[in-house]
Amino acid sequence: MSDVAPPAFPLQDLKSIANRHFGLSGDIVKLVSERDQNARLTSDGTSYVLKIAHVCEDPEQLDMQNAVLAHLAATGFEGTPRLCRTLAGDETASVDKDGARHLARVVTWLEGDLLSQAPRTLAQLENLGAFMGQLTGRLQGFGHPASFRPDFVWSLDHVGQVQAWSKDISDPGHRGRVEDLFLRYNTLIAPRLPALRASVLHQDANDNNVIVDPADTDRIAGLIDFGDMAYGRTINELAITLAYAVLDADDIYGAIRAVIKGFTGTFPITEDEAELVYDLMRIRLAASVCISSNQAKKHPDNTYLTISQEPAFQLLDRLASVDPAFMIALCRKAAGYPAIARAPAVRSALAGKAYGPVLFPDLKRTPRMALLVDGTYPDMPLYSDRSFDAWFESRRTKELPSDLPFVGLGPYGEKRDVYTSEQFADPASRERRNRHLGVDIFAPAGTAVHAPLAGTVQSVCYNPAELDYGHTLILRHETEAGEPFFTLYGHLGEDVFRLAKPGQQIRAGDLIGHFGDWHENGGWSPHLHFQVMTDLLSQTGNFFGVGHSSLWDVWSDICIDPNLVLGLPAESYAVDPHPPRELLERREKTLGPSLSVSYRNKLKIVRGKGPWLIDHTGRCFLDAVNNITHVGHCHPHVTEAIGRQAAILNTNTRYLSELILDYSERLTKKLPEGLDTVFFVNSGSEANELALRIARTAIGRKSTVVLDWAYHGNTGGMVDVSPYKFKRAGGYPKPDFVEIAAFPDPYRGDHKGMSKEAGEAYACDVDRCLASFEAATGSGAAAFIAESVSGVGGQVFYPQGYLAKAYEMVRARGGVCIADEVQCGFGRMGAHFWAFELQGVIPDIVVMGKPIGNGHPLAAVVTTRELAEKFRNGMEYFNSFGGNPVSMAVGMAVLDVIENENLQARAASTGDYLMAGFQALAKDHELIGNVRGKGLFCGLELVRDRRSIAPATSEAGMIVNQLRERGVLISTDGPLENVLKIKPPMVFGKEEADILIGELGDTLRQHCQVF
Ligand SMILES: Cc1ncc(COP(=O)(O)O)c(C=O)c1O
Repeated sequence: MSDVAPPAFPLQDLKSIANRHFGLSGDIVKLVSERDQNARLTSDGTSYVLKIAHVCEDPEQLDMQNAVLAHLAATGFEGTPRLCRTLAGDETASVDKDGARHLARVVTWLEGDLLSQAPRTLAQLENLGAFMGQLTGRLQGFGHPASFRPDFVWSLDHVGQVQAWSKDISDPGHRGRVEDLFLRYNTLIAPRLPALRASVLHQDANDNNVIVDPADTDRIAGLIDFGDMAYGRTINELAITLAYAVLDADDIYGAIRAVIKGFTGTFPITEDEAELVYDLMRIRLAASVCISSNQAKKHPDNTYLTISQEPAFQLLDRLASVDPAFMIALCRKAAGYPAIARAPAVRSALAGKAYGPVLFPDLKRTPRMALLVDGTYPDMPLYSDRSFDAWFESRRTKELPSDLPFVGLGPYGEKRDVYTSEQFADPASRERRNRHLGVDIFAPAGTAVHAPLAGTVQSVCYNPAELDYGHTLILRHETEAGEPFFTLYGHLGEDVFRLAKPGQQIRAGDLIGHFGDWHENGGWSPHLHFQVMTDLLSQTGNFFGVGHSSLWDVWSDICIDPNLVLGLPAESYAVDPHPPRELLERREKTLGPSLSVSYRNKLKIVRGKGPWLIDHTGRCFLDAVNNITHVGHCHPHVTEAIGRQAAILNTNTRYLSELILDYSERLTKKLPEGLDTVFFVNSGSEANELALRIARTAIGRKSTVVLDWAYHGNTGGMVDVSPYKFKRAGGYPKPDFVEIAAFPDPYRGDHKGMSKEAGEAYACDVDRCLASFEAATGSGAAAFIAESVSGVGGQVFYPQGYLAKAYEMVRARGGVCIADEVQCGFGRMGAHFWAFELQGVIPDIVVMGKPIGNGHPLAAVVTTRELAEKFRNGMEYFNSFGGNPVSMAVGMAVLDVIENENLQARAASTGDYLMAGFQALAKDHELIGNVRGKGLFCGLELVRDRRSIAPATSEAGMIVNQLRERGVLISTDGPLENVLKIKPPMVFGKEEADILIGELGDTLRQHCQVF
C-alpha cells in the first residue's frame, strides 16, 4: 500500500482528458476511490468511468486489468466493464499532473446499485456465489505475467507476509484470536495448499465492488475493480467472497451455505478445496485486520481505519466459538459433498446388520411408546419436568406384566423446544439448536446399558451443566473397512466411571453403564441419549445432542441415524393415528361379526419379517404360531417373485405356460411315485373340496369317513366333514354321508401311548365307520380324509401304524385315502417333507395349502393319473385363479427358499431344541401334562392334575394372553382348548426358541400361584 495520496485532477482536467484522449464529452462527476481517481462520465446517454491510476501504479498491473477485461469480453461474460480505447487506439493514455505521470483509462459504466446499499438476502448471496463461480470459470486459462504478486499484501496465497502485523492489533483478545488463526493456518492449512489448483483471481468481491440490479437487488448485475487481481489458489476467490459476504450476516451458516452453493453451482470445487475454504476465509479476515491495524498504527489520526476493521473483528469473535470442524462440514455439504467424507461409507457399513441390544430385554421386543413433543400428548410434561416420570408411568397399559419394562422413544431428527438453556444458543445464528441428533430411550434410573458393538472407550466425562448429558460415555468403533465412527451414551449414572475407562476395549454386549437419575444426568427424566457420530469434530468428552433445523443436512451426516444400530421398526418413533381400539370399532361395523380377533389385548400388526410380526408401535412379536408364512414373513425371494411375475403376466390355465408345468413337475418330485397329477386351487378348503369331489366322482359315492375333531375348511362342503365345526357352537347334526372315526389321541383318547397296538385299535374305529356305511348303503366309504398329524385337534401325533391300518381298511372296501397336509406339510416335521411319511403311508390324494404359498392364496391337490382320469367325466374343471402364473412363481419361490435355506433340517434341529426346552419346563410345572412335537409342530397340553388330566383350559387361555403381553404369539387348540399350539415359521432358530422357552417359563413361574 502506498502512502502517496491518490491523484486529484480537478473536474475540468478530467473533462479535458476524456475529451482529448477518448473523444468523450458530457457530464462528469467524481467518484469515491481509495487509491486511484475515478469519475463518472455521461456522454450521449452512455456512462463511463474515467480512471486515473495512482502514480505508483505499475503499468504492468494496468495492462493485466485491461487484458482481463478484454478476455472476459471475448468470452461473452456479462457483468464486468468493457475497456474503451483512446482515440489513438491505445488502452491507456498518459496524463501529467504536478510533474507526475498517470495512466488514464475509460471503461463502461455498469448500471445498478452497489451491493453495500442493498438489503442482504440468502438468495442474493447465492446469486453472488454463482456470479463469482462463473467469473472463476471464465478466468481458467487466463494468464498474465503481472498476476504473480507474491509481495502484494492482499494475495491470499502469500498471507504469511502480514502475520507479523498481528502485533499491531491493539486489543489483546482480538490479537490472540488472530494469532491462533495464523498458527492453525501455518500448521494445518498452508501445507495442503500446494496440492490445490491455481488461477488468476479477482480477489476483491466486497460489497462496494459488486453491483446489483436496482429492480431486483437479489440479482447480481456485475463486478468492478480488478485492482487486487493476482494469481493464487483458485479457491481463494470463494474464500474472499465469503469473507465479505459473511461480514455482517445474521445467520453466518446460511450466508456461507448460500455463497458456496451458488459458487459451486457454476464452478464446482474439489473436496480438498471445500475442506479448506472456511479456514481460508478466516485467514483472509485475519489478514484484513492485520493490514488495517498496521495502517492504523501508521496513521493514528485516521479513525476510519480503526472503525472499518470492527466488523471483521466481530465476525472473528463470533466464529471463535463455533467448532471449525462443523464449519468445514457445512462447507463440504454446501459444495455438494457429504458433510463428513466417510458418512456414506459408515452408513452403508452399518445398514442392514444386526447389533447387540443396548438394553435387555432387547428393545425390539420391549413394549414402547413414541414420546413426541409435537403436541400429540397435550398433557405430557417436559422431559426436564419432574412430573414427567409419573406421567410416563401412567402410560403403561394395564395388561402389561409388572416385571416387564416399558420404554419411551424420543426420535432422531425430532424438533424440540425444550432446549432452553444457554448452551443451545449459537453465536453464529439466531437459530437455536433444537433438532434431536440421537434417539432417547426412557426407562427407569438404573436400567443397564450394554454396548451394541465392540469398540474402545473414547471418553468418559461428567457434563454437569443443566440440561447437558450428565455422565457421558463415547465409544470409538471402526467399520470393517477401518472407517472410524463413534457411539455416545448420555445421561448415565455415576458408575460409568467404574465400568469404562478411556482406552478400554469393549466387547459387544458388555455392560457399559446404567441410566442416571435426575441428580446426575443433567436434570432430565431418566433416559439414555444414544447417538452415532461419524466424526467428533473438535469435541472431547461431550458432543452436540441437538443440531440446527436449517442445517439438518449437515448434522445428519455428522450424526447419522442411530437406528442403523438400534434397528427398531420405523413405527417405534411415530404415533399411529389409527390405534387398535379404533380399528376394532370400525371392524365391528364393517366386517362379518363371526370373524374373531386373537388375544384379549388386540394386536394391530403392520409388518412382518422372518419370524417377527411388528405392531403399530414398532414392537416385534415373535411369531411362534403362523405355519402359513412357512419361510418367514415377507421373505424377499417370495415377494420378489410375486412382484416380478405380476408385472409380466397373470392369467388363467386356459393358455399354455411353462411355469405351471415346471412347478407341477418340481412339486410332484417331492411326493412318492404315482402321485403325479396336480390341480391348483386357492385355499385349503377349496383343495379339500376338490379332493373329495375327485374321490366321490371316481368312486361313485359320497360317503366319507372323517376323524373326530377334524377341521378341513370353511366351505359348506368342508364344514360337513369337519366335526370341529359342526359339533360345536352353531353346528348341526352329523350329515348322513359322514361317519366320524375316533380321534387317535394317544394322551387323552381310549388307547394311550404311541404303540402299534394303540394305532391299530384306533384304526378299528375307521373300520366301524366303513361297516356302518356298508350296512346302510351296501358299500364302504368313497373317501377317508384325515390330517396326517392333527392341528386343530391339538397337535396330536397318531400312534404308530394308525394310518397304515386305516388306509388298508378304507381301500379294502373300495375307498380312497386323502391326506390333508394343509398344516403339517412342506418339511415342517423336520425328518420328513410330508407328515404322512411319519406313518409310512402313501395317500391316494394329497391336499396342500397354507405353507405352499407362504401366505399367498395358493393350494393344490395332487393325485394319481388313474383317479384324475376317472374325475374326467365330461364336466370341465375350471378355476379362475387356481394355477395362475403369479401363484406358480410364488410356489416355486417357496420351494427355492425351503431348499436354499435348508429349512427342513432347521425345523428338525430347532424342533429338537424346543422339545428339550419344553420338557425341561414340564419338569418344573405340573401344569404341563403332555409335551409332543416333531420338527416345528409342537403342542403342550395343559392339565390341572396329571392323574385326572383335567384340562387346564382357562390357564391355557391366560398363558397365551400373557405370552402375547410378553411379545410371543402362540394359540390354543384341541377339543378342550387346553393345548398350547406352537408351529412357527420355519426360519425359527435357536435364538427364537430361547425367547419362546424363556418367556413361557417366566409366564408359568409368574402365574404358578394363580394356577
Ligand atoms: C387341516 C386344515 N385343512 C384345511 C384347512 C382350510 O384351509 P384354508 O383356510 O386355506 O381354506 C385348514 C385351515 O385351517 C386346516 O387347518
